[in-house]
Amino acid sequence: MTQDATATTPTLSHLPVLPQEVVDALAPAPGRVIVDGTLGGAGHTRMLLARGATVIGIDQDPYALERVGAEGLPGLSTVHGNFRDMQALLAGIGVTQVDGILLDIGVSSFQLDDAERGFSYHSEAALDMRMSQSGPSAADLVNDLEEAELAALIYEYGEEKHSRRLARAIVAARQEAPIETTTALADIIKRAYPGFAKGIHPARRTFQALRIAVNDELGALREGLQAAEALLAPGGRLGVISFHSLEDRIVKRFLLGSRRLTPLTKRPIVASEAEQASNPRSRSAKLRVAEVVAAPAEVNA
Ligand SMILES: C[S@@+](CC[C@H](N)C(=O)[O-])C[C@H]1O[C@@H](n2cnc3c(N)ncnc32)[C@H](O)[C@@H]1O
Repeated sequence: MTQDATATTPTLSHLPVLPQEVVDALAPAPGRVIVDGTLGGAGHTRMLLARGATVIGIDQDPYALERVGAEGLPGLSTVHGNFRDMQALLAGIGVTQVDGILLDIGVSSFQLDDAERGFSYHSEAALDMRMSQSGPSAADLVNDLEEAELAALIYEYGEEKHSRRLARAIVAARQEAPIETTTALADIIKRAYPGFAKGIHPARRTFQALRIAVNDELGALREGLQAAEALLAPGGRLGVISFHSLEDRIVKRFLLGSRRLTPLTKRPIVASEAEQASNPRSRSAKLRVAEVVAAPAEVNA
């Protein structure tokens, strides 16, 4: 049976964003080895496999790997870990060079929808947010950081202009009792937020900031880009999908400064109106694509 590239991820409830654009960017074909550094529900991976590529799927979330692994997709091998450690992870399976790398960063709908993971301010759960299930949780940060550190984190990663006021409210609340749940934090923010903004939940930016900090998402992205640059073969392609300006800025600057990678997209590719209507998550997605033009020897010269 021929694999249908449009039959993506119904079983794992994560619609891949910019599906056709990713396929065009990575040029999957028989004989090409592509790393999907953010396997998630394997939505993109399925499309790459359907075109005959071999895919190495990396995810730091053990649950994501377990679910996709259980499907036994032909042509896919999986590795547990952070894409920032891609070189070591691939060396561990004897791979030192690949033809394509995809990073579709952030959390999957699957993780967001799983209330117990603590990413959502809509449903009550332990304030966790750790994709890897290890290291300090969001509750550790809100209960342990100094007020000024908390304010800086909310401002920098959440681009939240009321960061100081929110940090003050969080510190006052935790003096009464530790903040342990998503809804407890959301309520503190709601009460402290000046003038309920229309359309956007007052806790949204703070939750985003905590998620980025808990998972060191920006640090992982910077190191992941360097690893990708080193691993790609001449002619190899890199595709990075980001979801907010902090990430896109890192990708854009990295590509502009890279000696091996040449950007193929002057401006990031965004979702069509039709995709945005059918998959709201695609509305903030930005895809940048680059290609390796120089051989490694030239770079080291
Ligand atoms: C947006 S989803 C990817 C969805 C996937 N492209 C699909 O179509 O199903 C991001 C996934 O990458 C994982 N992830 C995020 N940052 C990561 C990192 N630094 N290293 C490894 N996995 C990461 C998350 O656990 C999540 O499963």
